[in-house]
Amino acid sequence: MAVGIFDSGIGGLTVLDAVTRRLPDLPLVYLGDNAHAPYGVRTHDDIFNLTCAAVERLWAEGCDLVILACNTASAAALKRMQETWVPADKRVLGVFVPMIEALTERQWGDNSPPREVAVRHVALFATPATVASRAFQRELAFRAIGVDVEAQPCGGVVDAIEQGDEILAEALVRSHVEALMRRMPHPQAAVLGCTHYPLMETTFQDALGPDVKVFSQANLVAESLADYLVRRPEMLGAGTDSKFLTTGDPKAVSSKSTQFLRRRITFEAA
Ligand code: DGL
Repeated sequence: MAVGIFDSGIGGLTVLDAVTRRLPDLPLVYLGDNAHAPYGVRTHDDIFNLTCAAVERLWAEGCDLVILACNTASAAALKRMQETWVPADKRVLGVFVPMIEALTERQWGDNSPPREVAVRHVALFATPATVASRAFQRELAFRAIGVDVEAQPCGGVVDAIEQGDEILAEALVRSHVEALMRRMPHPQAAVLGCTHYPLMETTFQDALGPDVKVFSQANLVAESLADYLVRRPEMLGAGTDSKFLTTGDPKAVSSKSTQFLRRRITFEAA
């Protein structure tokens, strides 16, 4: 009964950690496509092909349900995967919708027409591919009206995190926040629309100031997975073991993950 969690690299570990806290008995197989990260600067076709290959690898581990703990893959590939590729006995879910439901104060499955919500000015920080897809604005428009979204493509941040360079990642986050605040001086909420960014959440909050509510996805996705599994327990696959797989160098990826997550994590080759 294992569930698969996929990201282009180590960012999805923020989601894995939250799922482990929420569902401690659920075996999880994590796959980081570190050999091909970052996805955020790739074409949509490329992201689709890489994501499909990774999901197939997780199905082979007995994970019938795979969470794309990657906004870039969720934004650029998920819809096409669900419409053209995922077989009927498997599920692939993304990380966008739980966050937008939280931002717009909606319960799961509330498909009522879009309405006004408390938050009016939202800053979105995401990879260039996620920003270019406009998937966030599209999903938001189904649920809310009158929300002004200013999106900042945060080039370089995922790369710096993947290279284990915390100092560069911090400097880049500060400069992206400044760039956004020149265009939207007083956001009420900021969405960290990349699963790598919670690793830099303190820097985002510090640069944005205490009045901005920062939404990051990990706990929201964990809650929504718990809820999904109550409704669809048959989607718990046949796998029984938890493990961490990477397409990159297991030693290097283990050491970066241990540094960022501040607990020992050991990857094996995918
Ligand atoms: N963690 C991925 C995301 O949420 C990073 C994408 C990338 O590799 O650029 O978008």
